[in-house]
Formats: sequence, C-alpha cells, structure tokens
Amino acid sequence: MGGGFPAAFSHSWSPPIPGATVDLRGFPVAQTAAMHSFRYVGRELFCEDVALSDLVRKHGTPLYVYSQATLADHYSKLDSALAPLDHLICFAMKSNSNLAVIRTFADLGGGFDTVSAGEIQRVIAAGGDPGKCVFAGVGKTEEEIAFALKQGIYSFNVESEAELARISKVAVRLKKIAPVAVRVNPNVDAHTHAKITTGTYENKFGIQFESIEAVYARAAKLPNLRLRGLQMHIGSQLTDVEPFRKAVEKVAPLVARLNARHGFDFFSIGGGIGIVYKEALASGDASWWKTAAGRKILTPDLYAKTLVPLLKPLGLKILLEPGRFMSGNAGALVTRVEYIKKTGQKNFVIVDAAMNDLIRPAFYDSFHEIVPLTKKSGALVSSDVVGPVCESGDYFAKDRPLPKVGEGDTLALLSAGAYGSVMGSNYNSRSLPAEILVRGKKAAVVRRRQVIADIWANESIADWQQTPASGKKAKAKGRK
Ligand code: LLP
Repeated sequence: MGGGFPAAFSHSWSPPIPGATVDLRGFPVAQTAAMHSFRYVGRELFCEDVALSDLVRKHGTPLYVYSQATLADHYSKLDSALAPLDHLICFAMKSNSNLAVIRTFADLGGGFDTVSAGEIQRVIAAGGDPGKCVFAGVGKTEEEIAFALKQGIYSFNVESEAELARISKVAVRLKKIAPVAVRVNPNVDAHTHAKITTGTYENKFGIQFESIEAVYARAAKLPNLRLRGLQMHIGSQLTDVEPFRKAVEKVAPLVARLNARHGFDFFSIGGGIGIVYKEALASGDASWWKTAAGRKILTPDLYAKTLVPLLKPLGLKILLEPGRFMSGNAGALVTRVEYIKKTGQKNFVIVDAAMNDLIRPAFYDSFHEIVPLTKKSGALVSSDVVGPVCESGDYFAKDRPLPKVGEGDTLALLSAGAYGSVMGSNYNSRSLPAEILVRGKKAAVVRRRQVIADIWANESIADWQQTPASGKKAKAKGRK
C-alpha cells in the first residue's frame, strides 16, 4: 500500500449481512438484491446509514456522495455472474477516478481500464496494482507508453498500426517486452447516444474487423511485442443484451483463430452495461426489478447468461471494462436551491450545482432523477432545474414535474457516480465540489472542496506585466 494513505482505508470492505434489511438501530443496510443504497428512511434521504442532510450540514453543497456498499455490490454481482469464466473486471476509471473508489475495487481484487498515464498514476496512488491495468486510448504519447511499460501494466489496448510500431520502438529502447492487444472495431451498432457509440466504422476507435488478422501478422514481426489478446468495446449505456451478443458472436471465431496463431492470454469484451436513470431511486429496491420497467434493464445475470456460453469455449481469460455499471448508481450530486424564479410559463429552480459539476445533461441531454433530501408532500410543479453558470445549456432538468421546493431546500441528482465528478471543470471559476464516501454509518471526505485560490494556483501574470499599476499609468511607464 502506498505510504500516507488515510487510515480509513486500512480496513477492507466487509459485505452486509446476507438477507438483512435493517441494522441493529433499525436503519437499512445494503441489500444484495438491490441495485444501490440511496433510499428514504421516513422523510429523509439516506445513503446507506447516513442521512444526506447531515452531510450537507457538515460539508456544504454542491457535494458528491458515494456508497461503498453499492460500488462493492456491483462488483460482486458481476464477479459472481461471471464465475464460470476465468475473468478480470477492469473498472473503467474514466467514469470515476476518485482514489477511494479505485481503492474499493482494488481491495476486491479488481483491475482497471485506464486511458492515460495520469490514470495509471492514480491507481498506484490508491494502492492498486498496475499489473492489473489495461491502457487504452487512440493517442498514447511516447512518454505515456514508456511510463506504462516501466510500471508493468497487463496490456496495452492498441488502436492503430502506427501505435503498434510506436510501442515496439519504445519497448526496444527500454529493453522490455510490451504486452499488447489490438482493439477490433466489430462494426456492430449499439443503438446508443451518438456521442458515446464506438463500435461502428463511423468513429475513430479500433481497427476494422476485416483488417485485424493482417494487422496481427504484421505485428508479430515487430520486435519486443507480446501479442497477448484482443479487445473490443461497442459503446456505452447499453440496456439491451443483443448488441453484446452480436458483437461477441461475430468476434469470438476471430479470437479463436488468432489465439491458435499467436497464443493469447485474454479477450476483453469492453464495457458498456447500462444503468437505470429514469427511475433511479425506485431501482434501489429489489422489487422494482420485477416491474415492467425493471424487466427491460440489462442485469449482470442476463449479460452473463447470454455471453458465458459464447466465451467459455475460447478457454481464455475474459476481461471486462465496466465503468458506469459499477459507479453510476453508487453516487449522487447534492445541491441546494438558491432561488426560485418564475418567468412566463416557467418555474426555474436555480441551484448551486452547475454544468461544471455535472455536464451530462448539457452535453448529452441526459436524464438524472432529482429528489428532495427531505420528502415533500403536495402537488408536483413543472420545473426547470438550472445552475448559476452563464449559459442556457446549464440545466439539469427541463419541464420536470418536481415537488414544490424553495430557497434553502436541498436536492439530490441521482445516478451521478459515473461521468459526473470526473468530467467536472472550473468553468466560471467555480471550485470543484467535495466528495464523500459512505460506508454504513461512516462518512469520509475523499476529496476536499477545492479552495477558490487553488483554481489559479498554476497561473501567473507575464514578467512584463509585473509593474503594479492600473491602465493609464502602466501604459505611460511603458512608453518611456
Ligand atoms: N472501455 C472503453 C474502451 C471505453 O471507451 C469505455 C467508455 C468503457 C470501457 C467504459 O464504458 P461504460 O461501461 O462506462 O459504459 N461520458 C459519457 C460516456 C463516455 C464513455 C466513454 N468510453 C457519458 O457520460 O455518458
């Protein structure tokens, strides 16, 4: 374990008592059947055994809150569904790279899907094993390749022939053997959002299916490469198993042929398992999964039942790269209502979180369920929930029927654990929110709220601007 890691991490996670729904104080504990640990206890919204309003009192808003039991539960669900296969779950940490989240999965034996030297460094900083990291991405620099090689990563997921040549060159220079897998683009449409689909020839990812065998034949001639496997990823937020089945059915025979020639260790089937956004809160309860809406969502069981029979005959280690499935419903963004503004037909609920904290609605028009921290009674009001940033794209919901809220009320944006905090920015010189990890009754600050002055800590004025003077004086001096 890396030195200086907070003491809170010295204990590994222990699963909740199977079948128990309440703890000794009568509070709910994470249920193995439920998909997350956010639920109302009486009128108060809880994350595991912690009332979110208590966290707000202590840490302010905007605030990201993660449930460790939920993260662990998602890992275990997938892990046990895939038990018939030799497998490694590599958490796609682009979805949430907080050290405490990484540590949760590292403690459970998981690996990591990384996309930059920075992400590999985060794994190391969190006490994780770089030997369980795959390194993906279309634009790896020589420095990043060298760093990853020195750390002994499990495999590079290679996106082009130019990259194969570059990895070989760096490996020769460092006198190392580079483990590589080429990413195949199977040209299967995942029918997901245009900005997050990756498996067709319309986008920049991977090498086309028809060219793969020739690419491997050429790669086999490059020095210092070990052709360790094949990788694919068809897209994100897939709630239907069919595209996965089509892609695996299409690619598995190719893997078998390549394995016979090059002696593979693994086949990575990527990430992409979708989560519940619309009825996120309800989906925390096991019974929701038996409703019509619940039955439509892809579960780890259906995923495994469909894919295991296709994968098992390969006799290879199967890697997965799930991000959203692991972290999405394990996190919420908590925000406070600053103002209510009524204009014409609209009821604007202006909150203190903004697109810089959670960009998904602005970027993908995506839906995040919004619920009050303290339950409200009475009629719902059609509302636009917006942030303070000076852009009309800065919204979280439009014309959404919501309980009537007022200044000072607090709200939770659910399913914000994936692609939430990690996509945050300092736009409008807004500081990055604090992040809290909850485990049972405990809550730890796992990222401090950014201090405003730290936003420009790496900035300075140019040396010729040093003379302290305003407008005219500075110009006059300059002319002399
Ligand atoms: N593997 C590869 C090669 C990927 O490109 C991705 C995601 C994953 C795994 C993980 O996919 P997941 O299991 O999380 O679906 N920012 C967007 C999502 C971008 C996904 C990028 N690649 C969003 O907020 O919806």
